[in-house]
Amino acid sequence: MTDVISSQAPATGAQGGSEDGLGPAVTKAVIPAAGLGTRFLPATKATPKEMLPVVDKPAIQYVVEEAVAAGLGDVLMITGRNKSSLENHFDRAWELEEALQAKGDLLRLARVRKSNVLADVHYVRQGDPRGLGHAIACAAHHVGDHPFAVLLGDDLIDVRDPLLSRMIDVQRRSRASVVALMEVPREQIHLYGCAAVEPTGEDDVVRVTGMVEKPDAADAPSNLAVIGRYVLHPRIFEVLATTAPGRGGEIQITDALQTLTDASGEGGGVYGVVFRGRRYDTGDRLDYLKAVVQIACDHPDLGADLRTWLRGFAADLTD
Ligand code: UTP
Repeated sequence: MTDVISSQAPATGAQGGSEDGLGPAVTKAVIPAAGLGTRFLPATKATPKEMLPVVDKPAIQYVVEEAVAAGLGDVLMITGRNKSSLENHFDRAWELEEALQAKGDLLRLARVRKSNVLADVHYVRQGDPRGLGHAIACAAHHVGDHPFAVLLGDDLIDVRDPLLSRMIDVQRRSRASVVALMEVPREQIHLYGCAAVEPTGEDDVVRVTGMVEKPDAADAPSNLAVIGRYVLHPRIFEVLATTAPGRGGEIQITDALQTLTDASGEGGGVYGVVFRGRRYDTGDRLDYLKAVVQIACDHPDLGADLRTWLRGFAADLTD
């Protein structure tokens, strides 16, 4: 089946919509950051992986900046034990600010202040990290009956390759849920949720017909991996409340979305936006290193010197 998503879908159901015929505006972002970060131990024993520096900012600041750039100024972070440094980072650090002010170091003062004024940041604790689906369910009270975005706190999308605003546009036209997909080599699909899809007639937008968490390559319905951006209809909360633990004994968002792919009525259906830009999984050690090098190469203060050094370093590598 091919279905071009209507840009004039009628306003139906309790959620209503806007005068332009689109679904309600998306204004809230949820950032799950309560995971244990076992792939990065021992660095993440006492420091959340979301706080690992990517050049000169913690990874999670890039994620909050991305949400704000897409118009989502209300951010809810899902945190847990050992995550207080996240809250400190987005709060005022008055003693630092006073010291920098006294020294007249206004450049660094502005950098320190940026994270406190970036967004309206709220927190809720997950308690037990029982999986990404469970973490998202913790946002139900804050989000209410509105569509919302989810950005994984360890997944960076390069600012030059915008994804979230496209996903929000697709969600508002379809009034369904939307996932971000990326083509990966078949031998890597077992690391991701994987989607079975049909074309919609719109470039890089597909209708998702099925989802499976971390399939073996032989069983995978496609090479389209689900990456860490979602724009979800609030019906997801109802589904998550009855989703049993799945793979790894965790409540999987993939399983809840699978239920929605088949659902009819308001909030049923799942679409995918295929992302072809730059993305870094900072929870993975190798990807983290690549993110630091690539982002540093473009950094206004550091890029030129680093690129010069890298050329010499690469030329000296023996294999
Ligand atoms: P991951 O699958 O990367 O799991 O979670 P993890 O536990 O954080 O890391 P590893 O695999 O042990 O190294 C994806 C995202 O979902 C969040 C994580 O913080 C991360 O941003 N998450 C995961 C939660 O918030 N709660 C959970 O129960 C699980």
